[in-house]
Amino acid sequence: MNDLRVFLEQLEEAGQLRRIDASLSPRFGVARMLAAAPERPMLFTTLVGYPEWRMVGNVVSQRDFFAIGLGTFKEKLLAHLIEALANPRPPGKAGSAPCQEVVLTGDSLTALALPIPRYHPQDAGAYITAGVAVIRDPELGRNLAFHRMLRLDERRFAVRVVEGRGTYNAWQRSPRGLPMAVCIGLPPHILLAAAISAPPGVDEMAIANALAPVETVPCVSQPLEVPAAAELVLEGVLTHDLAEEGPFPDLTGTMDGVRRQPVFELTAITHRHNPIFQALLPGGLEHKNLMGMPREPTIYTEVSRVADCRGVYITPGGCSWLHAVVQIEPHGPDDARQAIDAAFRGHSSLKHVVIVDTDVDIFDASDVEWAIATRFQAGRDLYIFPDRPGSSLDPSARQVEGAKSHSDKMGLDATIPWGADPAAFRRLHY
Ligand SMILES: Cc1cc2nc3c(=O)[nH]c(=O)nc-3n(C[C@H](O)[C@H](O)[C@H](O)COP(=O)(O)O)c2cc1C
Repeated sequence: MNDLRVFLEQLEEAGQLRRIDASLSPRFGVARMLAAAPERPMLFTTLVGYPEWRMVGNVVSQRDFFAIGLGTFKEKLLAHLIEALANPRPPGKAGSAPCQEVVLTGDSLTALALPIPRYHPQDAGAYITAGVAVIRDPELGRNLAFHRMLRLDERRFAVRVVEGRGTYNAWQRSPRGLPMAVCIGLPPHILLAAAISAPPGVDEMAIANALAPVETVPCVSQPLEVPAAAELVLEGVLTHDLAEEGPFPDLTGTMDGVRRQPVFELTAITHRHNPIFQALLPGGLEHKNLMGMPREPTIYTEVSRVADCRGVYITPGGCSWLHAVVQIEPHGPDDARQAIDAAFRGHSSLKHVVIVDTDVDIFDASDVEWAIATRFQAGRDLYIFPDRPGSSLDPSARQVEGAKSHSDKMGLDATIPWGADPAAFRRLHY
């Protein structure tokens, strides 16, 4: 079975998994360890107060780890994603349900039994951050998405549901509340598929299954199906009651404020024996990879319509959301400028984009800066687009209540000037 446990074995074989046997508290202790070595996957075997549980974090903190989980190479991940997006395959039905080895309902149902971490002293409370919500839109069918969830009490969570996306739209179309199953402890292909904003009506579980096999089982208390090998599933209803959610750290590493958000009411908790709780540091490398990587195929597709696109990287320095580097092989004087326009079409929250040639390593920030230093002239190669719809995650954007934020955008053409002698721009190698 293609589950988190198999993935942890793969990481261990690759010498990447650090086992921490010392007693640690989910209350700040785990978060401190994860933040101290952000690129290193960790398995915490001894959690203070939760003898039955283990915890993992940082498991997809590097692209190489996605590649390990998907059985490919870092450089081929983009092609892999493009292929899966184009050819979703419905998941299979599982013969057994490891995720339901333990079922808590009725009097035994309490979220206080779960080792939900506290991440930062300034945040509002215990938060689920690696939960993938499975819902069924009455018109469009199944949708998968991440939603951070603040534990309010034994049976209720306040859920951050961004307006206008899949879960929000389905919730609005469900006046009696939206059945929802939150899955925690999943392998990389399901995490990645859940982070994708697929076109309406496209099942992200089928995208996950196109990346690597997925088998599902019916929930015990809701009309939904979940990955059979999830470590933990919270079943319930996203109600129309509202409660305060936040403050909590955001992708940018800055603090997100307090909002009134929908309340999720539990109807059942199911989990595996000796379960593994998945932690995810807000604003950390996993959060960044999962946000940025699914936008690279959409930029690649748009740029490929107007230029010979060879690669796209959404950079961690730009919060893996606001900055991209696009590599092209220019065949005409206008290709780079057109690639800039196309990149903004491919990811509407993008703020700055740099276009480079094929001899520049897009994953190496200093190589990209070298191209800007040696090939770019601001008076000739800089394109500024004032006051465009941008990202609400950018604290410097002009925030508009109930609408998309507005931001100035910028594209840098750092390719060799068209018509110049390329020999004068090539790097010498000794
Ligand atoms: C780690 C992580 C945390 C996220 N947290 C939230 C969140 O709290 N609320 C939210 O609405 N979206 C959140 N997102 C974004 C959604 O998962 C993402 O936009 C998803 O693709 C929406 O898909 P949809 O457009 O198909 O609904 C998060 C994404 C990641 C990767």
